[in-house]
Amino acid sequence: MPIFSKLLPEGVRVVEARTELDDGPRFWQEERYVANAVEARQREFRTVRICARQALAEFGHGNHILVPDDHRAPVWPPNIVGSMTHTAGLRAAAVACASEFSSIGIDAEPHQALPADAVDLILLPEEQRLAARLRAYDPGIAWDKLMFSAKECVFKTWYPLAQRWLDFLECEITVGQEPGTFTARILQANSAHRGVDLSALRGQWMSESPVGHGLLATAITVR
Ligand SMILES: CC(C)(COP(=O)(O)OP(=O)(O)OC[C@H]1O[C@@H](n2cnc3c(N)ncnc32)[C@H](O)[C@@H]1OP(=O)(O)O)[C@@H](O)C(=O)NCCC(=O)NCCS
Repeated sequence: MPIFSKLLPEGVRVVEARTELDDGPRFWQEERYVANAVEARQREFRTVRICARQALAEFGHGNHILVPDDHRAPVWPPNIVGSMTHTAGLRAAAVACASEFSSIGIDAEPHQALPADAVDLILLPEEQRLAARLRAYDPGIAWDKLMFSAKECVFKTWYPLAQRWLDFLECEITVGQEPGTFTARILQANSAHRGVDLSALRGQWMSESPVGHGLLATAITVR
């Protein structure tokens, strides 16, 4: 079962690949974005788009050419929202009808602790304290990395609606209250966009195995 199927509600179509795929058409409009990239980047870019087209096929858009916008956000067909992620060993795309969801974010990361020199750039002091408390209670989860993934997930949910940058320190993640869930509080003053209140988001997370192995995954949907 796809990892993100466990995190996303009914109505969201998810397609994942655990190995690279190369069985879809190549579109020059997409290829030009990775023409100068290293081969590994080209392969993940193509694979996740094959996944996305398979997911989009359910909504009648199986031939959609999925180019990034000026800020790298994928341009979905009209009336579709979606999100993509790629990390070592997983490529995933999730899409849904815009009449049902305003935005979707998904993110996957290797289940390893955040590098020590990145912690202050990514986590607020209160998040660092929460991660330390949770680590003492359950050392099997890389809580700091989970918060990082939740923030990337927030950004992918936020950007298509807000069309604005959001810094890692402009969002506070709370995790550990209910199993498998997190909340995100956006600290920017204006967090309502296109009639959608983005000031507080709620997400789901899971780990495949204890820290040091497998993946961490996070997902957010906004109705
Ligand atoms: C955009 C970002 C979140 C993507 O993360 P990543 O490390 O490249 O990892 P992933 O593989 O999980 O995601 C890549 C996909 O994200 C999507 N993406 C990139 N920019 C995006 C944006 N502005 N909005 C929505 N989705 C975006 C794309 O689909 C991309 O895949 P593609 O390049 O093949 O098209 C990250 O690069 C970034 O810029 N982060 C800084 C902003 C941030 O996270 N702030 C935290 C706010 S709390």
